[in-house]
Amino acid sequence: MRIQPVLFRDEAPEVSSFRDEVLRGLSVRPRRIAPKFFYDRRGSELFEAICRLPEYYLARVETGILGTRAREIAELAGAGCLLIELGSGASRKVRLLLDAMRPEAYLAVDLSREFLLEATRRLAQDYPWLEVHAACADLCRPLTPSFLPRGRRRIGFYPGSSIGNFEPREARVFLDSLRRLLGPDGALLIGVDLKKDAAVLHAAYNDAAGVTAAFNLNLLARMRRELRAGVEIASFAHHAFYNDSAGRIEMHLVSRRMQCLRVDGVCFQFAAGEGIHTENSYKYTVGEFHALAEAAGWAVERTWTDPAAMFSVHFLRAAA
Ligand code: AVJ
Repeated sequence: MRIQPVLFRDEAPEVSSFRDEVLRGLSVRPRRIAPKFFYDRRGSELFEAICRLPEYYLARVETGILGTRAREIAELAGAGCLLIELGSGASRKVRLLLDAMRPEAYLAVDLSREFLLEATRRLAQDYPWLEVHAACADLCRPLTPSFLPRGRRRIGFYPGSSIGNFEPREARVFLDSLRRLLGPDGALLIGVDLKKDAAVLHAAYNDAAGVTAAFNLNLLARMRRELRAGVEIASFAHHAFYNDSAGRIEMHLVSRRMQCLRVDGVCFQFAAGEGIHTENSYKYTVGEFHALAEAAGWAVERTWTDPAAMFSVHFLRAAA
């Protein structure tokens, strides 16, 4: 069989958006930079390394659920769909579904352009029967249906608990817009990390090998590379903890000393212990997530968890 080329569409924002985000985010209190900026090439690689860590159960447990449930998922989805993965990264997890699902086409959407292209090219080589599309786009912006190949049932695939990066209210808006994008007969397969013992959560974001710290600190490295920022990476520390009342993991970059971080000739003054909030990762109970999905116009068709109830995968269909 002939390998088809990957059909590529570029909707990525310009480099200036990172500069704007940094300048704006360092000017407000509390200081913050959105987690989507973690994923430059190096950041995407570090995230792949996180997924292989013993402490980071999320990827491992979700992979287990998808592998065991591939047949059931395929039955719910029906053959010949258009499978759309949001935040596809290395397009690794979708491989667990392709043989069972036999979609007519796969569209990978990710912000990390080079990484997206390499991953989809590899996928197209390994699955010569599959029509592979790639779109470089920012999921935080309204998704335009214009780039969707048409004529097939659209199944969204949003694994990894990336939904946790949104504030719950924004998550509802995002799920609602996804439902519109996927259409009246659309469905969504989504992975959601569950609330659990805080020590287990804490370890997953404070791994012994320091990979999560490197992932967080890479944001400063990226500022140096792309914005020529004046900042010594070792002068900041990785800080991650479970905020129990908010139900989320928070990640921060905390200044180890008093210093001035320079971007574009502007000096951003940090006191020792002052931080930049870089990520929220919300955790849900199954019931909380069902309520969220239903508020966004989805009906829960099936929910799977692992025996230890660490992680959940849901098959949602657009409510009538
Ligand atoms: C990809 C957003 C789901 O929150 O667990 C991993 C990113 N951050 N380790 C998560 C992440 C720190 C991850 N998500």
